[in-house]
Amino acid sequence: MKNIAVLVSGRGSNLQAIMDAIDRGEINGRIVAVVSNRKDAYALERARQRNIPAIFIDHRRKARKDFEEEIIQALKPYSPDLIVLAGFMRILTPHFVSAYRGRIMNIHPALLPSFPGTHAQKDALEWGVKVTGCTVHFVDEVTDHGPIIIQRAVEVMENDTVETLAARILEQEHKAFPEAVKLFCEDRLVIEGRRVRILPPKE
Ligand code: GRF
Repeated sequence: MKNIAVLVSGRGSNLQAIMDAIDRGEINGRIVAVVSNRKDAYALERARQRNIPAIFIDHRRKARKDFEEEIIQALKPYSPDLIVLAGFMRILTPHFVSAYRGRIMNIHPALLPSFPGTHAQKDALEWGVKVTGCTVHFVDEVTDHGPIIIQRAVEVMENDTVETLAARILEQEHKAFPEAVKLFCEDRLVIEGRRVRILPPKE
């Protein structure tokens, strides 16, 4: 069974989707800790409700590297196999990425490499694309850039607002993210350069 640590900054609906999939027995892993850079993140509350260690680490008035080192040290006792970024709103430096190379996953609310950054749904709507979606990818040194694990498409409707579009993308995030975590926990993801090969289920 894999040990999963989840980094969050906000409401934690993706964290919830992963916890629910674990409860349904779909993922061969357990969440060992949830770390937030915001004290009032509702995601921390969701963790506490399940008796999962909920750790607040402030990023303010610190060098990025020092903040990251604090996270690394806080996670050490839990020996995480996988780090899941579920709405974690801090950019990670090579310091953190190299500590868990190939073992950090992020979800992004657009079809990468289109619309990286923090306003992906708004950017897609304003660009006028007819299809957008979400991407689960491994994290490398460049933001919203690493090898892609799963993407799910969402059609843009004529009367969409940023809110309605974001809500439909979120529904797909809640399917894609647990699926990617499940595959990782079954050792079925192989990174080959930019590509992630998904191995068939083991007998
Ligand atoms: C999601 O839209 C995710 O794609 C983005 O931040 C949002 C987090 O939502 N990176 P939640 O905290 O999981 O509800």
